[in-house]
Amino acid sequence: MPDITLTNVTKNYAGHGHAAVSDLNLTIAHGEFMCLLGPSGCGKTTTLRMIAGLEHLSGGEIAIGERVVDSLSAGTFLPPEQRRLGLVFQSYALWPHMTVERNIDFGLRLRKIPEAERRAKVNDVMEKLRIRDYAARYPSQLSGGQQQRVALARMLAVNPEILLLDEPLSNLDATLRLEMRAELRRLHEEFRTTIVFVTHDQWEAMTLATTIAVMNGGRLQQVGAPDDIYSRPVNRFVAEFIGNPPINMISLDAQSVLGGLAARLFGKLPLGGTSKVASVGIRPEEIAFSATVGAVPLGTLKLESIMPTGGSWILELSLGAERLFHATHTRPTARPGDVVDCFAKAEGLHLFDADGQRIELTEIRAQNAAQPIGQGRPALLPA
Ligand SMILES: Nc1ncnc2c1ncn2[C@@H]1O[C@H](COP(=O)(O)OP(=O)(O)OP(=O)(O)O)[C@@H](O)[C@H]1O
Ligand SMILES: [Mg+2]
Repeated sequence: MPDITLTNVTKNYAGHGHAAVSDLNLTIAHGEFMCLLGPSGCGKTTTLRMIAGLEHLSGGEIAIGERVVDSLSAGTFLPPEQRRLGLVFQSYALWPHMTVERNIDFGLRLRKIPEAERRAKVNDVMEKLRIRDYAARYPSQLSGGQQQRVALARMLAVNPEILLLDEPLSNLDATLRLEMRAELRRLHEEFRTTIVFVTHDQWEAMTLATTIAVMNGGRLQQVGAPDDIYSRPVNRFVAEFIGNPPINMISLDAQSVLGGLAARLFGKLPLGGTSKVASVGIRPEEIAFSATVGAVPLGTLKLESIMPTGGSWILELSLGAERLFHATHTRPTARPGDVVDCFAKAEGLHLFDADGQRIELTEIRAQNAAQPIGQGRPALLPA
């Protein structure tokens, strides 16, 4: 199976102020389950449509394997049907005059597959996607979620080399979504099909992807394994977009009590220029109520409320007007109104400069180590 390579890909829609996609460089390796993740309007669908050949590039180049499929400068454009892709879009178009079974069979007929083989294949995907009971119905007689599964079945039936999926599970209820995710993962592992999956749901991306590409405002922010993206976000946008409940972000400005505290922790560090820490992010699960080795004290905070989420709890903590959220799988013993000493694991701190770019803790430690003890070197970040 071929890699998909996007080189300096740009898309400007006529009459649209800024570029929908800007200077995008991305390689989707064969066999990868790549999720394009980002907020509404960030250019996910546009990117997918350009890969599919449903949208022309305004600049740059897309290659599938060795074959350049779209390049303005080379004057190349391969139409969608020659790109050997399977597509399911946000708005999935089923043939209204064909039954579910015929809809799924359609692509196989086009490929002139023998009838017995076709029937077996259609039955197999209907079984897998649990739509067998609706085989004889027409799309208008199905719910949105059922239609979505038929669209997926129709595409899986033809075993495409590359699957492009644009929010294909958006109309399903929570249970079905989870089941379909598991099914997609299983199909991916079984067939090793390259999948490009568009979603604005970070949880969906985290559970499905082998690699996530985070986009914002038409620009690629970070590409990496789900764990990388979560534990080493390259900038504030990624840190804040990924994670539920979201990361606690403390600005190190004088007006903020928490920030003032954090400034005392970091402000004296001999850092200059762009590597100066301007904000600190703490994941809700990285907050602790007891000091462990390397823990950074955050202060004594008041427990405002406890929100049970079924097997886990979200605790709202306050210091003056500021709020921190803590997430835990341990049933809380403290009650609203109690005050608690809070700590954050040093490894769980995410540091960002004034431009929102990540600063590595190791970078701070190296500079920290160069500074003799007693000259403003805080003991809180052990070297
Ligand atoms: N045909 C079009 N003509 C003009 N502008 C468009 C067109 N399609 C998309 N856009 C604009 O391009 C930008 C990116 O749109 P796109 O559909 O790729 O976003 P998206 O990330 O898929 O968002 P969503 O999560 O809401 O589906 C948006 O600002 C959108 O308004
Ligand atoms: Mg979209």
